[in-house]
Amino acid sequence: MAKTKTKWICQNCGYETPRPLGKCPDCGSWSSFVEEVEQTNAKNQEIVILDDEKAYSINDIELNEEIRFTTGYEEFDRILGGGLVQGSLVLLAGDPGIGKSTLVLQMSKNVCAQNKKLLYVCAEESSSQIKLRAKRLGVEGNNLFVYPKTDFESIRHQAEKLSPDVLVIDSIQAIFTQTITSGAGSVSQIRECTNLLLEFAKSRNITVVIVGHVTKEGNIAGPKVLEHMVDTVIYFEGDRYKSYRLLRAIKNRFGSTNEVGVFLMTDTGLVEVTNPNELFLQDRNKEATPGSVTIATTEGTRVLMVELQALVGTTSYPSPRRVATGLEYNRILQILAVLEKRIGLNLSKQDVYVNVIGGIEITEPAADLGIALAITACARDIVIRNDCAIVGEIALSGEVRAVNDVEKRILEAQKLGFKRIIVPKIHKKPQNKYNIEVVEVSRVSEAIVACVNKEK
Ligand code: TYD
Ligand code: MG
Repeated sequence: MAKTKTKWICQNCGYETPRPLGKCPDCGSWSSFVEEVEQTNAKNQEIVILDDEKAYSINDIELNEEIRFTTGYEEFDRILGGGLVQGSLVLLAGDPGIGKSTLVLQMSKNVCAQNKKLLYVCAEESSSQIKLRAKRLGVEGNNLFVYPKTDFESIRHQAEKLSPDVLVIDSIQAIFTQTITSGAGSVSQIRECTNLLLEFAKSRNITVVIVGHVTKEGNIAGPKVLEHMVDTVIYFEGDRYKSYRLLRAIKNRFGSTNEVGVFLMTDTGLVEVTNPNELFLQDRNKEATPGSVTIATTEGTRVLMVELQALVGTTSYPSPRRVATGLEYNRILQILAVLEKRIGLNLSKQDVYVNVIGGIEITEPAADLGIALAITACARDIVIRNDCAIVGEIALSGEVRAVNDVEKRILEAQKLGFKRIIVPKIHKKPQNKYNIEVVEVSRVSEAIVACVNKEK
């Protein structure tokens, strides 16, 4: 006999407790507990062991070639590791209003154009709303089916009848299964629905694309409960007030995870940007200004040229402010400590703001030298040449450390018309094969001189 049990679950991290708590002991969030009723099997229920699948030696397992098909966008395909894999479960997550539904609808058109059947479950909007949007985006096709339902059982029934190649669920927060009593959007509903979708995708070899909203804290559906279940997790991010969007793979069982794809949101939907550097650098000042530098940073296999700006000024606060936008806060503190100790830059009474232009996040240490130069230039009122790109990691000793893909970064800077690039000194000297002046530096102080100097 089934019996019911009540528990309280933190909607942020999935922590379970028998009683509601004000603050979650696991993730520290406040007022995040929601009561959920769950049916459990009675203890005396018989446990059945199914022995219809045996274990194989790894040598005997036959390998099925994975079948992939294109999304119609080079940028999207690259994130997926070469297109959508048949039978895989893809989670597309992002802030509300960032353009997830637009992206999947445009992708649907391209998938259907390859003679594939696609079922689009629009759990958040009505069919006519979808039609209206589709008309605006020029999305059509006899193979594209729209189903405005929210309960999983109806969706499964419809999918079994239609047997599509791709099933799109927009969004996972809006659907629910009748097997669980808690409301749609709760942690247990999301977890259970994803589980059921996973079973469905694998048993019928259907590709399932799940759209998920990210909470204010940046988690998918509150907890990260979905990430381990699905094959691929993709974040669609960007500033809602700016028109470009970044597509980033966080996890991918079928490809590399550090790729980014760039899209532009226009009046007629999303357009892919195959050369994002022109986009990122378009607002760059023609005149060089103190505190502004361009760095060559890598995202997966691609080099991005990004502008960094620093502002240093006398503080009016009891303790000076350090603000980093698009960069790791602790990294900035570390660089400030190195600058203070190694080149004698005293910033203890100065506020320091460092900003990545273009709204992207930079985590790689190869940005260190650029950050250090932007801060130093602003503090000392030095103008860094704006046709000079900068690459390098900084050690605590003030040494400039080697970074990966130096050659690729040099070539990208050269392609975009930079005249000089500052790179770490490496034992293997780059041959004299570039049209850009490559200056090797081993200390921060050398880099400052190198990016101010006129041409040799
Ligand atoms: P949407 O795909 O509905 O976002 P999500 O599904 O992630 O919540 O996109 C909503 C935003 O995109 C909306 O604010 C308007 C904008 N948009 C355009 O600028 N151009 C377009 O052609 C479309 C369809 C949407
Ligand atoms: Mg949507």
